[in-house]
Amino acid sequence: MKETLINLKNQAIAQIGDTSTQEELETIRQEMFGRSGKITKITRELKNVNKEERKEIGILLNDIKNTLQNVISTKSNNLKNSTRTWFDVTIPGKKPKIGHLHLVTQAIDEISKTFENVGFVRARYPEVEWDWFAFESLNMPSDHAARDEWETFFVDTPKHPKFGSMVLTPHTSSGQVREMMRVGSPPIRMINIAKCYRRQIDVSHYPMFHQFEGLVIDKGISIVNLKGTLDYFAKNFFGENRKTRLRPYNFQFTEPSFEVDISCDICSGNGCKLCKEGWLELGGAGMVHPDVLKAGKIDPKVYTGFAFGWGVERTFMMKAGLNIPDIRLMYSSDLRILTQY
Ligand code: DAH
Repeated sequence: MKETLINLKNQAIAQIGDTSTQEELETIRQEMFGRSGKITKITRELKNVNKEERKEIGILLNDIKNTLQNVISTKSNNLKNSTRTWFDVTIPGKKPKIGHLHLVTQAIDEISKTFENVGFVRARYPEVEWDWFAFESLNMPSDHAARDEWETFFVDTPKHPKFGSMVLTPHTSSGQVREMMRVGSPPIRMINIAKCYRRQIDVSHYPMFHQFEGLVIDKGISIVNLKGTLDYFAKNFFGENRKTRLRPYNFQFTEPSFEVDISCDICSGNGCKLCKEGWLELGGAGMVHPDVLKAGKIDPKVYTGFAFGWGVERTFMMKAGLNIPDIRLMYSSDLRILTQY
């Protein structure tokens, strides 16, 4: 008898624990304490138990009644308080979407590190700048035809007696003389990466883009140093097997001036369908013109220097092998593009 009672108690507690609604709980309560419930029946039959055992069984039965009633009321409260009765902790979580740096920012960081590794110092100069720094000090007086290439945005401000109008920097070369003035006397090893602005928009141009500009000035700097630096960049940024080549060109602020090409990744300079003649154009470079050194108060008889500069977006697209049909996509915030990088 005792054993039956204890089993009954344990079973009931387990069933109560398994319930998830008040209705299920009520059913169990009826099965135990209802008119023909199990506990009710046993209580009724207690009088048939022989005297010796009756007292002990009676106490046990009372105990079980109390316990079950407590368990039922606790469970009932729990059900009332909880909105969710079951939670599967093993379900994999949903990760929140997190962003990352824009591809142009990634490119800037990488270009910057490549040059910083060999001693260049990162600089930034105003994007709204005096004409003098953007053109005049770079050997391009206001009536010079070469200026037409830099389709410049002019800012509507009164002219400065020495520095002239204000412009949105059309190239990072505007930082050259600024850097000479900041540093004072050479050595100078600048890498200036900044936004540039030109009045042009089509599939391969955007009115705002980025350039990086290198400037090195010291005693005895020659074209050999320029070539070495460009080759270093080509190998470290694009890959071990890449080379550069210099083609004569004309810029007002360098003499001699060059256009820099990089060997095609596919055919290594031999010529293929992709590059046509084996080389891809990167940008401009040259030996700093003596007039530019003078504008920065550096003596061209003592010091020489080289400079180079070109577009971040283009360089990055060449590295990534990106074939973006329209450069404007890079700034479109279209996640189908952005999430790929
Ligand atoms: N500033 C030139 C441009 O925007 C590029 C350039 C050419 C930069 C020659 C240089 C250089 O530093 O030496 O087209």
